[in-house]
Amino acid sequence: MKKSKSYILLFVIGFLLNACTYDFIVKEELAPVDPTVDILFATQIAPIFTSNQYQCTSCHKTGGQAPDLTVANVYNSLNTLKLIDTTTPASSKILSFPGSASHSWAKLSASESQLILTWIQQGAKNN
Ligand code: HEC
Repeated sequence: MKKSKSYILLFVIGFLLNACTYDFIVKEELAPVDPTVDILFATQIAPIFTSNQYQCTSCHKTGGQAPDLTVANVYNSLNTLKLIDTTTPASSKILSFPGSASHSWAKLSASESQLILTWIQQGAKNN
């Protein structure tokens, strides 16, 4: 009897400790990115701006608001408008501008940003 009581107590303590730490271990799920595997611009980066939940290409389309983020032109636009910074990848404007004060209506998700950042760190190749 005494033994089973202490098991129940242990269970309750364990449950409470778990409940306390729960808030801290819940994080936004990030797509697993392996920095040693090349991210492919054509299939992994270019489609982000068309499929993003904020529909970047509804404004940033060919003949519309610069930068042109359509699949066919996004690589040139990012380079011409200097929106990527291969020296300091995290400071790239394509990462910092969406979601900023003047562009709060459209942002990139954490996993999209992480993918783009890794691609820039790998040299922003047109692959
Ligand atoms: C409702 C229309 C609209 C949508 C949707 C939109 N943008 Fe924009 N974006 C603009 C306008 C207008 C500007 C230029 C004005 C400004 O600087 O705020 C701009 C500017 C930018 C710039 C700065 C370009 C430069 O040369 O400085 C970037 C980068 C950008 N947008 C990225 C994005 C991304 C990425 C998305 C999707 C997550 C997005 N935008 C969605 C309208 C939009």
